[in-house]
Amino acid sequence: MAKLVTVLALIALLGSTARTCQAGYGYPTPVPSIPSTPTAPPPYTPSTPSPPTPTPVTPSPPPSYTPSTPSPPPPTPTTPTKGLAVGYYNKTCSRAEDIVREVVRDANPGIMAGLIRLFFHDCFVRGCDASVLLDQVDPNSPTEKFGVPNLSLRGFEVIDAAKARIEKECGSDAVSCADVVAFAGRDATYFLSNKKVYFDMPAGRYDGLVSLSNETLPNLPPPFATVDQLKANFASKGLTADEMVTLSGAHTIGISHCSSFNSSFSDRLNPSTSDMDPMLMSSLREQCKSDTGNDNTVVQDIKTPNKVDNKYYKNVLSHEVLFDSDAALMKADDTSAAVRANAKDNGVWEEKFKAAMVRMGAIEVKTSANGEIRRKCGVINSY
Ligand code: HEM
Ligand SMILES: *[C@@H]1O[C@H](CO)[C@@H](O)[C@H](O)[C@H]1NC(C)=O
Ligand SMILES: *[C@@H]1O[C@H](CO)[C@@H](O)[C@H](O)[C@H]1NC(C)=O
Ligand SMILES: *[C@@H]1O[C@H](CO)[C@@H](O)[C@H](O)[C@H]1NC(C)=O
Ligand SMILES: *[C@@H]1O[C@H](CO)[C@@H](O)[C@H](O)[C@H]1NC(C)=O
Repeated sequence: MAKLVTVLALIALLGSTARTCQAGYGYPTPVPSIPSTPTAPPPYTPSTPSPPTPTPVTPSPPPSYTPSTPSPPPPTPTTPTKGLAVGYYNKTCSRAEDIVREVVRDANPGIMAGLIRLFFHDCFVRGCDASVLLDQVDPNSPTEKFGVPNLSLRGFEVIDAAKARIEKECGSDAVSCADVVAFAGRDATYFLSNKKVYFDMPAGRYDGLVSLSNETLPNLPPPFATVDQLKANFASKGLTADEMVTLSGAHTIGISHCSSFNSSFSDRLNPSTSDMDPMLMSSLREQCKSDTGNDNTVVQDIKTPNKVDNKYYKNVLSHEVLFDSDAALMKADDTSAAVRANAKDNGVWEEKFKAAMVRMGAIEVKTSANGEIRRKCGVINSY
């Protein structure tokens, strides 16, 4: 066992080393095909308008959970999504959500952006099941982390730290990694919005047992996707075109590698083919320049790079966005109307974003029948 742990730790270490020195987005094939099996999350019915409760961490009773007992059967779910419930860990680990929030609060804004993207990538590949976190064990079967669109995923250490603290308080079988990822994405949104975008995240996900690198490309939309491809991709996850536009607003934070918008697939810095604002284009050309062939990074939202707000939509309207997929939102009547609506400072986008994050968090969720509660987020339990 000790040996296995060492090997796994080594793999994890190698993985994290590789993370820091990656090449470009480097799509090996043209536009990935879109999977045809729609797996819709159940429709989300907003529960009673709960007031935005950025409750300062209330002292909670001592954990009632003892690590030695088998994990409790999942409580019968109520609303809003099948199998998921707000306050799922009320009894089994009442401090779970507080712990995740505390760990996320201490992360820097870049890592917070990474956590929101991690949640998206997790949910779009095999559902929200923490499979995005799995380290490769079988040398012949690379996991999602090794898929092309994994580029620059970050925030893994926050998930691990939160899970470790939860284990200390509630035992290792209490809270799933998939729920930690969902809470972390929600909390990163909360902090980056200056506590404006707060919402309940239903929980009760189990962790999946499969992670395959070759499933990332067909499931995650590429930055050179057309509006039709974006719609089809989100529809294959049971999400609407409007939700696609709403969730794209996450590109109001974080960074991108230059290769994501300047490559043989995406020629966004070419003035003769790109509709990008000339000022931004010349600035990006400068920032992307590299004597060493380094794939530099740039911020996605030049105006408020670390703030979750509706600035993204203003950037789309003024042609100050990085990706073809961002600009593509203006290429269809319904999505361009949604961009215009979301660009208004009336709080509508913020409300839609909350609901869309919850809906994304319900994609293909696992149950105890086809999932587990992992003791360590990168590693499948071996009983
Ligand atoms: C609509 C289709 C989408 C496409 C084509 C897309 C593509 C990308 C790409 C290419 C990057 C830059 C990666 C890099 O070069 O380092 C990126 C970054 C990011 N994306 Fe998306 N994305 C999409 C939707 C989403 C959604 C739904 C979310 C979350 C709700 C999201 C959140 C983010 C965040 C937060 C970053 C910055 C990450 C960081 O700074 O570490 N994206 N996206
Ligand atoms: C957990 O507690 C909150 C607050 O009292 C309540 O709204 C929620 O429904 C509870 N959830 C469960 C699953 O018990
Ligand atoms: C993906 O990889 C797995 C394991 O490496 C393999 O069994 C499977 O056939 C591959 N799927 C596709 C579509 O290539
Ligand atoms: C992403 O994939 C590349 C290979 O495609 C791999 O070298 C790298 O380690 C992966 N990144 C992460 C975060 O695991
Ligand atoms: C854009 O990408 C091409 C390769 O596709 C590269 O030759 C060029 O230097 C890049 N431009 C900038 C400004 O990074």
